[in-house]
Amino acid sequence: MKYGHFDDKNREYVITNPCTPWPWINYLGSEDFFSLISNSAGGYSFYKDAKFRRITRYRYNNVPMDSGGKYFYIKDGDSIWSPGWKPCKTELDSYECRHGMNYTVITGEKNGVSASVLYFVPLKTWAEVQKLTLTNNSGEVKKLKVFSFVEWCLWNAASDMENFQRNFSTGEVEIQGSVIYHKTEYKERRDHYAYYSVNVPVQGFDTDRESFFDLYNGFDEPQVVAEGKSHNSEAHGWSPIASHYIEAELKPGESKDFIFVLGYVENNADEKWESKNIINKRKAKETIAKFNTSSKVDAALDDLRKYWDNLLSIYTIDSGDEKLDRMVNIWNQYQCMITFCFSRSASFFESGIGRGMGFRDSNQDLIGFVHQIPGRARERIIDIASTQFPDGGCYHQYQPMTKRGNNDIGGGFNDDPMWLIFGTAGYIKETGDFNILDEMVPFDNDPSSARSLFDHLTVSFDHVIDNLGPHGLPLIGRADWNDCLNLNCFSNDPDESFQTTENKTEGSKAESVMIAGLFVVYGRDYIDLCIKSGKSAEADRAQKHVEAMIATIRKHGWDGEWFIRAYDYYGRKVGSHENEEGKIFIESQGMCTMAGIGLNEGLCTKALNAVKERLDCQHGIVLNNPAFTKYYIEYGEISSYPAGYKENAGVFCHNNPWIMIGETVVGNGDRAWEYYRKICPSYLEEISDLHKTEPYVYAQMIAGKDAYKPGEAKNSWLTGTASWNFYAITQYILGIRPDFDGLLIDPCIPTHWKGFKATRKFRGDTYRIEVLNPDGKSKGVKTVIVDDLPYKSNLIPVFGDGKEHKVKVVLG
Ligand code: BGC
Ligand code: NOJ
Repeated sequence: MKYGHFDDKNREYVITNPCTPWPWINYLGSEDFFSLISNSAGGYSFYKDAKFRRITRYRYNNVPMDSGGKYFYIKDGDSIWSPGWKPCKTELDSYECRHGMNYTVITGEKNGVSASVLYFVPLKTWAEVQKLTLTNNSGEVKKLKVFSFVEWCLWNAASDMENFQRNFSTGEVEIQGSVIYHKTEYKERRDHYAYYSVNVPVQGFDTDRESFFDLYNGFDEPQVVAEGKSHNSEAHGWSPIASHYIEAELKPGESKDFIFVLGYVENNADEKWESKNIINKRKAKETIAKFNTSSKVDAALDDLRKYWDNLLSIYTIDSGDEKLDRMVNIWNQYQCMITFCFSRSASFFESGIGRGMGFRDSNQDLIGFVHQIPGRARERIIDIASTQFPDGGCYHQYQPMTKRGNNDIGGGFNDDPMWLIFGTAGYIKETGDFNILDEMVPFDNDPSSARSLFDHLTVSFDHVIDNLGPHGLPLIGRADWNDCLNLNCFSNDPDESFQTTENKTEGSKAESVMIAGLFVVYGRDYIDLCIKSGKSAEADRAQKHVEAMIATIRKHGWDGEWFIRAYDYYGRKVGSHENEEGKIFIESQGMCTMAGIGLNEGLCTKALNAVKERLDCQHGIVLNNPAFTKYYIEYGEISSYPAGYKENAGVFCHNNPWIMIGETVVGNGDRAWEYYRKICPSYLEEISDLHKTEPYVYAQMIAGKDAYKPGEAKNSWLTGTASWNFYAITQYILGIRPDFDGLLIDPCIPTHWKGFKATRKFRGDTYRIEVLNPDGKSKGVKTVIVDDLPYKSNLIPVFGDGKEHKVKVVLG
């Protein structure tokens, strides 16, 4: 069942039924000011950090789900309704929500009145703009009463939800004209306040929640709306809100716009006040003035559209398959940008107060958007590397505001260091900016310890070989990519965190074949970087270690039909036919086939066939099989999940692409494509009622074949799935792959494809690419024609003339 449809021309998903199986959301803002907004206007805003600068309040996991947001209430005679259906839930005559690139338009119609709200964060603006358009489609004059509503959060989203003995006494507001200012804690340590304005005179306002709703009413029936009149309440403590009351009279056919601005301001200490206890409103007024007419708002939206036109023009395809085109050209790229901005902090599954920026996650996210905004990728790489320790280990997470490593979680995830090589190499392949390797970057943010970024990559590489276990495979530490394979945790205490607990480390033999494979794949990138930087001795040294690792994997990492996953604390195999449960895992098959280990001897093909046979199912490739059905103290969190969910045999959409890429290594384009389609959201739109999460973005996990409800997805938006699937489809299946010295065209497509077209902007030039497949092949380039002349290789050079170049590639 579908709940809407794609509008590719406008790059929107149009939801036409408000009762989606889960709130289907969008993100506003891509720089400093951010909002999450659901299809019924639920959600919240924050400035930079969803924990420390939460601007409006949101209650996660509420009843009903997704209660609280940026609401408008319309009173038309006795009828009270909201354009997004919720919170009033009054039946509407029509409803539509258009989620676009960083903007959302929600439109409801009732009794001949249409109310449409455009929500977006203009570029370079610390505010969300909301344009409410009321239109009278009836034949009579309409006298409407409109009430806006937002609920302020007392800044720190965590203490906001717990420290009520304090919170209920701290709230402070100021009201001036049509602007409501939220200034809790501004008089002491905060240099910031928030405001909510409207561009017309108001007939009333409310800033105290209890006065607005009454203590016994929910979001669906505010007392003032029922009465048809504001109480003009001024909050002192308790829960400050902001609500404007506007009366609007509309003649038949008439339309009126009302512009609301929800903004954030920071003031220096010496300009905090206008007069005693009266905040300095200058910056707020400046922003409000920028958006006080419809034409200014429309121009700002136009700028935002142009910004996205530009970002999305860098990589476009025309494959003849609209579902593929809309993912590659629009939604997958959009999701990559969102994961870059938010890491794993704020979604409808991540509460914004939990995790900071992940070291491993942020490096992988880079790969999905580096072609769009390389400058920000560069900055991100330096930030991430600055949280590394001198021995190459890393803080697993850091906080975006302070950019400092997070001590609560610490380090010890032994895959982390290698991802820095992956991210940096990906950045350089895209940009050719080798200078980044000379940047001086501190360790653990201590400026006196700064060394070149290249040195950071060296210690990353060495961290693996300095921490080898009894078989010569990398020690796993607290976990590798799989946060739930905690082989040194041994926890029997439900109050301990699986991620930070290591009860048994003395003499641990826990090793990871996944990290071994990772080391081979990206160790090769490190070698290339050494060669390109003229460090040939270092390249030789690294080469020896990579070769040794390959030999070790072949000796101790091969189970006969597939790659072993790990060795546990006692040195026993994990992910082997010898095990009763968890005989085979996806991660080591992915990494080792991407590395091409034993390719010529058929090891990769065997491993991939085992994946097909044992891990693949209708909904994608599950993480392990058979699923664990009891708790294995020596494995940790993985066996805590019920079978079929999350890391215990769920379809982890993040590492399915590793297998897709592995299939391209052996040249099996049909299978790579089959795996791609299975988890790609646009192909799942028809089963939205089962899939549950948005059909325009990937979810982290789809319940696997062992689950109670296979096919049901969870944790949409913020997941490494976005960048990995984009990377797999664009660089390996379509095969348009940036390399250090040019753009490699090496597709591995399904045999039934006749070809495809693509446009790729790369280092200032524009490549108009046409791939032809007359012989029904998957892989192998027969001829290359560049600008109408035969060319010697499929590594297309950087022309450096800023012009368009035609590239025709024939497979065969
Ligand atoms: C989840 C992982 C996640 C980890 C870290 C676990 O409960 O299953 O996917 O990465 O927590 O927070
Ligand atoms: C989610 C985490 O963000 C990611 O870093 C990890 O690799 C996966 N879970 C798998 O455990």
